[in-house]
Amino acid sequence: MQISEALKKATKILYQKIESPRKESEKILLSTLKKDLTFLILNEDFKLTQEEIDIFFKKVARRASGEPLEYITNQVSFYSKIFFIDYGALIPRPETEILVDFAFQEILKLSPKNQIQILEIGIGSGALSISLAEKLENANLDFKIIGIDISQNALKIAKKNIENFNYSSKIQILQSDLFQNLHSQFFDLIISNPPYISENLKGKLQKELEFEPEIALFSGNDGAELFRRLLKEFFNRPEKILICEMGFDQKKIIQDEVCKLANTDYQLIFYQDLANLDRGFILKKKINS
Ligand SMILES: C[S@@+](CC[C@H](N)C(=O)[O-])C[C@H]1O[C@@H](n2cnc3c(N)ncnc32)[C@H](O)[C@@H]1O
Repeated sequence: MQISEALKKATKILYQKIESPRKESEKILLSTLKKDLTFLILNEDFKLTQEEIDIFFKKVARRASGEPLEYITNQVSFYSKIFFIDYGALIPRPETEILVDFAFQEILKLSPKNQIQILEIGIGSGALSISLAEKLENANLDFKIIGIDISQNALKIAKKNIENFNYSSKIQILQSDLFQNLHSQFFDLIISNPPYISENLKGKLQKELEFEPEIALFSGNDGAELFRRLLKEFFNRPEKILICEMGFDQKKIIQDEVCKLANTDYQLIFYQDLANLDRGFILKKKINS
């Protein structure tokens, strides 16, 4: 079977099941052949081996059954870079790129004299920490990131990405339930994109989410269980800045929780995504508190 024929057949299988059947068929074929787009364009009549055909159509069937393209190709694009991704970690979302930008801006405001210490809670694939690391490096800043996650599977994926991007000396990973295994370390900034979907929505969301780890998605009845724990622990720690992504409908929950817990002066700023939905917050304890 030639490439052109295989793509036609795959597009037909995926037609009306996904938004871009031809484009995704091409991506699946490229990941099967481990080639780039130029190869496809120049070799439409290239004859596939039986093994390549079998692997390709198995992957197409996975996509037709609702599995995310990223898990099939083991690739995800985030902040203009391609990361390795697999079942153990959440597929990083484009909206999380905003968190990278806000974290970077806050770090610039610190006008640091010593090495900047950053903590990411729930590092997942590592895409967020690696993207932030690249920005800090480009700005000639000295930094160290510790990325923790409760999931060993996620940490394995983060490790692979950190090694692929040569950040092993700058980003350290650690298995921990929130701050549990961090002991007395101090961080200039804490960032997190925690799980924030309500458990009540399990099985009621788009099919693709069923393939992602539940621990990366769901958090109690209102989706804010981990936020409550995180905020409580944050207010008992010496760190002054926490930046988090959150659900578009969680502003009030976060406001109430911060008011309840804060025994110190603080500033709470919410940020929006491109669709103008509340998407995250920056919580700062006042300098002298
Ligand atoms: C929404 S994912 C974010 C992953 C990645 N940072 C990103 O933005 O793509 C949340 C991550 O938090 C981790 N997590 C969940 N509960 C945790 C806990 N109690 N302590 C530490 N990490 C936790 C999950 O394993 C998951 O990797």
